[in-house]
Amino acid sequence: MSEEQRPLTTRQGHPLSDNQNLRTVGERGPATLENYPFIEKITHFDRERIPERVVHARGTGAHGYFEAYGNVGDEPATTYTRAKVITESGYRTPVFVRFSTVVGSKGSPETARDPRGFAVKFYTKDGNWDLVGNNLPVFFIRDAMKFPDMVHAFKPDPVTNAEEPWRFYDFVSNSPESLHMITWVKSPWGIPASYREMIGSGVNTYKWINDQGAAFLVKYHWVPKLPVRNLTAAQAAEVQAKDVGHATRDLYDAIERGDFPSWELRVQLMPDGEHPELSFDPLDDTKTWPEDQFPKVPVGYMVLNRNPENVFAETEQAAFGTGVLVDGMDFSDDKMLLGRTLSYSDTHRHRVGPNYLQLPINTSHAPVHTNQRDGAMTAFVDASGKNPHVNYEPSVMGGLSEAPKRERDYAETVQGSLVRQPLSRTIDDYKAAGDRYRSFEAWEREELLSNISNDLRSCSPEIALRMVWHLYHCDEDYGTQIARRAGVDLQKALKLPPLRHHPGPNKNREPAAPGIPSPTTIRGTVEPGVPAH
Ligand code: HEM
Repeated sequence: MSEEQRPLTTRQGHPLSDNQNLRTVGERGPATLENYPFIEKITHFDRERIPERVVHARGTGAHGYFEAYGNVGDEPATTYTRAKVITESGYRTPVFVRFSTVVGSKGSPETARDPRGFAVKFYTKDGNWDLVGNNLPVFFIRDAMKFPDMVHAFKPDPVTNAEEPWRFYDFVSNSPESLHMITWVKSPWGIPASYREMIGSGVNTYKWINDQGAAFLVKYHWVPKLPVRNLTAAQAAEVQAKDVGHATRDLYDAIERGDFPSWELRVQLMPDGEHPELSFDPLDDTKTWPEDQFPKVPVGYMVLNRNPENVFAETEQAAFGTGVLVDGMDFSDDKMLLGRTLSYSDTHRHRVGPNYLQLPINTSHAPVHTNQRDGAMTAFVDASGKNPHVNYEPSVMGGLSEAPKRERDYAETVQGSLVRQPLSRTIDDYKAAGDRYRSFEAWEREELLSNISNDLRSCSPEIALRMVWHLYHCDEDYGTQIARRAGVDLQKALKLPPLRHHPGPNKNREPAAPGIPSPTTIRGTVEPGVPAH
């Protein structure tokens, strides 16, 4: 037997000489219960699946590296952060990336109209950093309390298991903060042609902390080296008729042939603070930060150059979370971010198990020394102190001790009443959606109008009228066009009173800001930022 032809064994290491036949009394049976190799094989098979992700179940992953430029525009990156992954140039931090759709289950078509997940795990010298983002730069809601309702509304009907547009529009028409996001999603930007040709965004606002303990609010953006390419509904239907996994195949094949996809990481920064001078709240993830005031500055680039050896072990068991930050990074008070930070590690413990961080795909490349022990599927004991008997701290008996503290560090001062209250500087959810509508190219706008009006035809008049009311207040043309195409009575829609729980459009708002970037301006603009590689 050659080296390659290794003999089969059981998981107990016993040679398996017959992998074809059950052990039976005579050739026709019955089978016997002590049939250990069969029982082991079939019961393991029965457990081959773990729960799929409650959202972002359909995804694909790849390995690669991130290299920082070491500066932020003309300034050294250390001005803004002490995170070495950002400040040290010339070092390639290994990464694992998982791209995904959001709503569909594990085998669902990748042509779905849906945001795309863009989750990056950086195995830095200082431990892991996860940047769990999407492609589109904003989100449907800005308060974590609403997330489970939002997901229920977007998923299939619990009675029929069918996808019903009315569920989506029922939720969004009662949550006007989502108007900006749905204007993106219902345009061709809701169906990226492939993962290699799409932008990425951290969406939520984080903080960077420098060596002096000063803090900056930061938003992250990935800009692909390839030009951005999106599909029309008709193009997507054509792709889907032939292949429900075209984006997974595209990424895998590109990496196999050495055509490595890459993205430049750019950031928008502002000093930490409430910024009352801004018309939007920098913690509101349904708004973008205007680029004329907060330019997207390159800080490094990422290349994906290796496919997983095993989809399950790597891509499926990969566990990303917004709580996973390195020194020099921190959370902002963004209410979505804080809710997410609890949710991710909670779902990992449920979906993968309490020891998910011991799996090679999730484990830090920096040394791990904890006193956390046991639990299902413990594979090893974290490196302990000199004395392995001491699995607690404090101790003078040779156990682990605390890491040194920084002399000067960032300490946010927080003062206020404990309330349940929405952000107040978000009054004009309509303007952002209108600005986005006007920024689209004609063909993109046409697609958007056709997608929403087709959907509204299958919604109840109550929902369709309210949607027209909203869209008209975003932009008169937007609402008028949708009403005409969806067969909704515009005059009747305009007579609706404002929603009870939302202040509605700001009557005194300024006209569309000329500085609002058109999405087309980010098409393929990554050169010359990304070096050839
Ligand atoms: C409060 C709001 C949110 C909550 C509670 C939430 C919760 C979750 C949960 C439970 C998962 C499944 C994770 C797993 O099983 O491993 C998930 C996946 C994901 N979420 Fe969120 N999410 C929220 C908002 C967002 C936003 C705003 C973004 C984009 C910036 C986002 C991006 C992702 C991505 C990319 C994944 C897939 C990660 C992977 O590939 O494993 N989520 N989310």
